[in-house]
Amino acid sequence: MSTTEKNIVLHVDDVHKTFGGLHALADIDLQIEEGKTHAIIGPNGAGKSTLLNVVVGRLSPTRGAVVFNGEVLTGKAPHQINQLGIARVFQTPEIFPDLSVLQNVMAPAFAKRDGSFKLNFLSSLERQTDIRDEAEHILHDVGLYERRNTHAGALSRGDKRRMELAMCLIQHPRLLLLDEPTAGMSRHDTNTTIALLQKIKERGMTKIIIEHDMHVVFSLADRISVLAGGRIIAEGEPEEVRSNPKVQEAYLGGAHL
Ligand SMILES: Nc1ncnc2c1ncn2[C@@H]1O[C@H](COP(=O)(O)OP(=O)(O)OP(=O)(O)O)[C@@H](O)[C@H]1O
Ligand SMILES: [Mg+2]
Repeated sequence: MSTTEKNIVLHVDDVHKTFGGLHALADIDLQIEEGKTHAIIGPNGAGKSTLLNVVVGRLSPTRGAVVFNGEVLTGKAPHQINQLGIARVFQTPEIFPDLSVLQNVMAPAFAKRDGSFKLNFLSSLERQTDIRDEAEHILHDVGLYERRNTHAGALSRGDKRRMELAMCLIQHPRLLLLDEPTAGMSRHDTNTTIALLQKIKERGMTKIIIEHDMHVVFSLADRISVLAGGRIIAEGEPEEVRSNPKVQEAYLGGAHL
């Protein structure tokens, strides 16, 4: 293998998605290289979350396929796709509000190891010291260790998002999908999250990140795809994309790029 050959982890191959008459996605071709952080940006309603939903199996494409490490994901259920090594932080956090922060972070590791997850297993789960130690370590990384015994439902929006990130990290995914991971966070917490995501990158985890905050995008992305009206209108390295007039026109009126 030549050193210039790229290892493509995820291939979105000619994906289309329509909702009734609405073309939410059209002609989407995307190749995500191993170990890279690939940002998907674009205005509200561009189709970014729809694209992630197709990748994780929550939506099936009207046409096309998604291939992960050579395996076709299209047609598989979300939990099967998750078991193959894809984890996701949703735009709206999905957590167990009545459980503690620590229990929330332990749950996915338990589910991964035992193949299923039952809430009444939680008391024995608390005694699983290996999982608990790792969950505590990850909570420390995301800055939530002090809040580990708080009910998850009582966390702020930004803290829920960090907890959800911890719930992903404990699964050691090969591909991590982040839908607006810093939405609702203060500037300080945003910068802490950027630093954490940079640290994850050093460990070689491949990431797709959807983000409106250009500070986050340009701090993290190796490559950027720009979605507008359900199509990819530009793709390239951050500086190429930043200076692309088509992008400036379609995205934020050019004001923030
Ligand atoms: N389940 C659905 N049924 C019908 N239309 C939908 C559905 N999901 C999304 N859409 C529409 O598809 C288009 C793309 O939506 P999507 O949520 O993917 O955009 P987005 O780029 O994630 O936007 P935002 O930046 O606001 O999160 C929008 O016009 C949206 O209204
Ligand atoms: Mg969205």
